[in-house]
Amino acid sequence: MSGAHPTDIVVLGERSYPVLVEAGAFEQAGAILKPYARGGRIVVVTDRDVFQAQGARFAAGLERGGITADGIVVAPGEGTKDWSHLARLIDDLLARGVERGDHIVALGGGVVGDLTGFAASILKRGCGVIQVPTSLLAMVDSAIGGKTGINVAAGKNLVGTFHQPTLVLIDPSCLDTLPERQLRAGYAEAVKYALIGDPAFFDWCERHSGALLAGDAQARLRAIRTCVAAKAAIVAQDERDAGGRRALLNLGHSFGHALEAETGYSDALLHGEAVAIGMALAFRLAAQRGLCPPGDAERVERHLAAMGLPTRPSHAGINASGAALAERMRHDKKAQGGILTLVLANGIGSACTDRSVTPDELAAFLDEVQAASG
Ligand code: GLY
Repeated sequence: MSGAHPTDIVVLGERSYPVLVEAGAFEQAGAILKPYARGGRIVVVTDRDVFQAQGARFAAGLERGGITADGIVVAPGEGTKDWSHLARLIDDLLARGVERGDHIVALGGGVVGDLTGFAASILKRGCGVIQVPTSLLAMVDSAIGGKTGINVAAGKNLVGTFHQPTLVLIDPSCLDTLPERQLRAGYAEAVKYALIGDPAFFDWCERHSGALLAGDAQARLRAIRTCVAAKAAIVAQDERDAGGRRALLNLGHSFGHALEAETGYSDALLHGEAVAIGMALAFRLAAQRGLCPPGDAERVERHLAAMGLPTRPSHAGINASGAALAERMRHDKKAQGGILTLVLANGIGSACTDRSVTPDELAAFLDEVQAASG
């Protein structure tokens, strides 16, 4: 990488890569990406919304360094993470003559990053991918760590690969054009790092997240850098989510994926919103089981609600029975022998995995939550 200093390195031996977080990084995109652009061209996959909001700016940054962007624009939304869009993207990449040694740029949020990363991992048995996340969710989580994939009828992200990017390039100023709902949803993934292992960051979040959402550049930079450092360290310890620390990043996700399935992975419930509900439920269940002080569960729910995030299934219009949601959770890819590994917590900043919650207990808990939501 030339022209800029990495903020962090994801240390993975020969697959190590830099993560650069810098406001204005897009203006230097050409200089930074020059080593990865064969013949002065690079394929950039993005979605229609990001193309409109940031496409010209990113392309101008590339041009400044003598690189021409060859754009592929997909439809925005979770529905794009499916077999048919993957097949079309592969055909488009092949039509552009992408070769195995080439790098494809994923410019967008989690959907573009996961879809493009997956396509890059299987095209000609593996091309390079450069993640350029433009949503808060992708900046703090999905663009780092190499998880790629699509959703299938049986569940979310059930088909995919681990394919580490060559570089992650984050320009926090992209958040200025991100719709507010997306920003709030992404915030759920940011506060997740505080809930998993950083109580001081949770204190910071309580004091500064209002400013972050309102557009304070320093608050955004601080939060993103804190999350990137946390994610890089976790991925370095447990790259393939093999029963180590990376599992904790699924805090709120087993509940969240079941809720997303209920809404058909539609924009009725954004991924980050589902995670917010899932995290509130995980803390509530942990408190009910005596793992976590009830005051911590209340504090988590209060903070998420203050950030305008849903904290119960009913807030997203979901009235499914506990048994139906528990059944969906049983099919989660983290289930082993039908037993689900849940991420619960001993308190704020102290997440843990738990394999002792039975489907019946889960169903009863979810029914209680639904009844309490009235
Ligand atoms: N988003 C969870 C992970 O990267 O492991």
